[in-house]
Order: sequence, then C-alpha cells, then structure tokens
Amino acid sequence: MNPLNHVAIIMDGNGRWGLKYKNSRNAGHKAGLNTVEKIIKETIKNKIKYLTLYAFSTENWKRPKREINFLFNLLENFLINRIEELQKKNIKLKIIGVKSFSDKLNKLLNTSERKTSKNSKLQINLALNYGSKLELINAFKDLNKKKDKINEKNLVKYLQTHNIPDPDLLIRTGNTKRLSNFLLWQLAYSEIFFVKKLWPEFNEKDYNMIIKKFKKIKRNFGNV
Ligand code: FPP
Repeated sequence: MNPLNHVAIIMDGNGRWGLKYKNSRNAGHKAGLNTVEKIIKETIKNKIKYLTLYAFSTENWKRPKREINFLFNLLENFLINRIEELQKKNIKLKIIGVKSFSDKLNKLLNTSERKTSKNSKLQINLALNYGSKLELINAFKDLNKKKDKINEKNLVKYLQTHNIPDPDLLIRTGNTKRLSNFLLWQLAYSEIFFVKKLWPEFNEKDYNMIIKKFKKIKRNFGNV
C-alpha cells in the first residue's frame, strides 16, 4: 500500500455547474466552496498531511471582473468565518502564489497564515495567483542572485513549496485532461486522476475511491 502524504487538486468545473443548474457561474463557485469543506474533512479522516488546492491561477485574471470579485469575496468570507475553526482543528494554512491583492486581503492572508503556523494535523496550501512557470522563473532568479549552483537541491529551496513534499496524488475534476500551469515541477512523479464530475458534484465517496485506487498503484519512480 502506498503512503499518501500529499494530495493536490485542480477544482475544475464550478462555472459549468453553476450555469447548468443556477444560470450563474458564480453560484458554481459558491457550491464549489461546499465541496472544499467536505474534502478538507475527508482529508483529515484519511490522515493525509498536506492538501494543495488550486483556487486562482495567474491566468484567471483574464476572467470578467465580476467573477474575480465574487471569488475573492468568497475567499475573504471563508477566512473571516472559518479561520478560528481551522485553528481549533489544528490545521495550518499556507498561501502559495504571489500575494499581490488588496491591502485588506493581503493582511487577512498574512494573519491567517500566522495564526495557524504552528498547527500540525493538516497543512492546506491554497494556490492563489499561482502559476508554475512564474514560480520557476522566480526560483531561477533567486538562485542567480544568491550565486547558488544550479541543481535540483538548490532550485527546490526557492520554490514556494519549499519544505512541502511533492504531491503523491493529483486529482482534476471537470472532465478536462490538462495541468493548467499547476505545480509543473512538483508533479513530476505524482499519480494523476482525471474525474468527469464537475467540482461541486465531487464528493467524499469519489475521493475515497481515488485514494483506494492510488494506494494499490505500483509506483516505480523510474525504477522497475
Ligand atoms: C475552476 O472552475 C475553479 C476556480 C477557478 C475557482 C476555485 C474556487 C473554489 C472552489 C471556491 C473558492 C475556494 C476557496 C478556498 C475560497 P472554473 O470556473 O474554471 O469552471 P469551468 O471550467 O466550468 O468554467
């Protein structure tokens, strides 16, 4: 049985779900947040130590302003209403991505990270304004600045995921098979599951089924 320490998720399909059932993409994001809460609980039940969620990519700024504002309001309210609960449940929150939002949101993100920094049951990495190419470019720039030798060990020091083990498992919902600039370096040896269901439809049963299948995979890491 494979150990499972880190699950990464591309939560795709909110917009389509919202349009289909509520005639509004934003309603899909709201429903997507309920799935986030379910999956956090199930991750704890499965004793998984790291959960990385792709919430907003560097490319998502191309979306209509109304949708972007809705998403960030949802995030703000989530943090305001839920941070104490995360704290009580011994969950650590880390933001990966470039924190260049409104002063209010930057402050809220920093406070939430600081408040939960000593927690150890589960670490949630929330990818916000995250793009893997940008992360790699910045890491190479830092390597260059420090005049460090270019090798794997040194590069990893400058990634946003420094000190976080690479994902064992990547799940993408929404019936699309692509990586969308997510953790391109870190996913080198992850097992990937593409799911047809849209993110708001994804549930604990689907998650546990994937975990069960993952545990049985023969992982070779290039060996035989
Ligand atoms: C992708 O679906 C989803 C997003 C870009 C946002 C993800 C946000 C949430 C799940 C809710 C907020 C989460 C937190 C933690 C506050 P899409 O909109 O690209 O779907 P589509 O492919 O159907 O258009």
